[in-house]
Amino acid sequence: PDPERDRLLSAYELSAKFYHFLLKNTEYGTAAMNYLRSRNFSDKMIDQFQIGFAPDRWDTLLQFLEKRGFDLAEMEKGGLLSARGEGKGYIDRFRGRVIFPIANRTGKVVAFAGRILGDGQPKYLNSAESRIFNKSRILYNLHQSKASIRKMRQIVLFEGYGDVISAWEAGVHNGVATMGTSLTESHVALMKSLADEIVLSYDGDKAGQAAALKAIPMLEESGLRVKVAVLPGGMDPDEFISRHGAESFMERIIDSAVSAIKFKLIYLKKNHILLEEDGKIAYVKEALQIIATLHSSTEREVYLREISSELELSYDSLKQDCNLLRASMQ
Ligand code: UTP
Ligand code: MN
Ligand code: MN
Ligand code: MN
Ligand code: MN
Repeated sequence: PDPERDRLLSAYELSAKFYHFLLKNTEYGTAAMNYLRSRNFSDKMIDQFQIGFAPDRWDTLLQFLEKRGFDLAEMEKGGLLSARGEGKGYIDRFRGRVIFPIANRTGKVVAFAGRILGDGQPKYLNSAESRIFNKSRILYNLHQSKASIRKMRQIVLFEGYGDVISAWEAGVHNGVATMGTSLTESHVALMKSLADEIVLSYDGDKAGQAAALKAIPMLEESGLRVKVAVLPGGMDPDEFISRHGAESFMERIIDSAVSAIKFKLIYLKKNHILLEEDGKIAYVKEALQIIATLHSSTEREVYLREISSELELSYDSLKQDCNLLRASMQ
């Protein structure tokens, strides 16, 4: 028995309900509701993900928790309140923010992520880490997706909460997200225990693609198969779905996810100017480094033939260079 833990879990559960109620049923929530609608969050998803709103006041949650007899110092330690700047006392940690409850894998709310309405810093404010919340271990939405994950032995990994939610509505029921921090070994181990394959669906911008490139070896080293869903034009999955719809997302992005190798080649190509001799040679050199690591000669042939035809280079010379590289790698 761990009474402090139980009190904190109970405070989070009640606070999540409270914020959800404020969003949906009070005037405090009107602006936030309009904001969510403008971003195409449906009522159904707002309910299912228990999205809420924390009014832009100092003591909304404070009074709510106080009335219910919670110890405020304990609530501050648990990440729901903040210590007042000067003197003693506490204030709400989340003010003027859309609240995304973060649940652990059994579905208990253990933290909040609060998004500012519109622009401003920080864009997301998270609960402080606590005895019930460890950011580097939690996967957002795992409690709702684990049934599908077990069945499919596959996880779609996103960057953001909005991506998970929009993708759920589009039909991806095996989606999770890390909480901003990069992927940790604990995340990888947890995913490996549930699935055989990861579909990386990070943002299409530079940061997202670089993060995908970094995640691939971590995932592969654990024995997971990796595919990458590539988003066009720097969009993230949520934006893509808003713009092009669910069907297009499923067909053009999720079902068209490419192998890790293919993704690396696409990424590489974006970073070289192939119209120039130098760029072309540098691209081929780096591409061969990647292809040479493939153990299957059939796979190597597939990619070498692709490069051969797109850059109008002879397959034989590419193959020769690739084999030289392989010999030097032994
Ligand atoms: P993004 O900047 O891609 O945000 O960060 P987003 O999820 O697309 O958010 P919207 O659509 O603008 O609302 C990806 C994730 O990184 C974390 C969050 O988990 C976010 O979902 N993050 C980002 C933070 O924790 N804090 C920040 O200030 C920004
Ligand atoms: Mn509801
Ligand atoms: Mn991003
Ligand atoms: Mn994003
Ligand atoms: Mn987004």
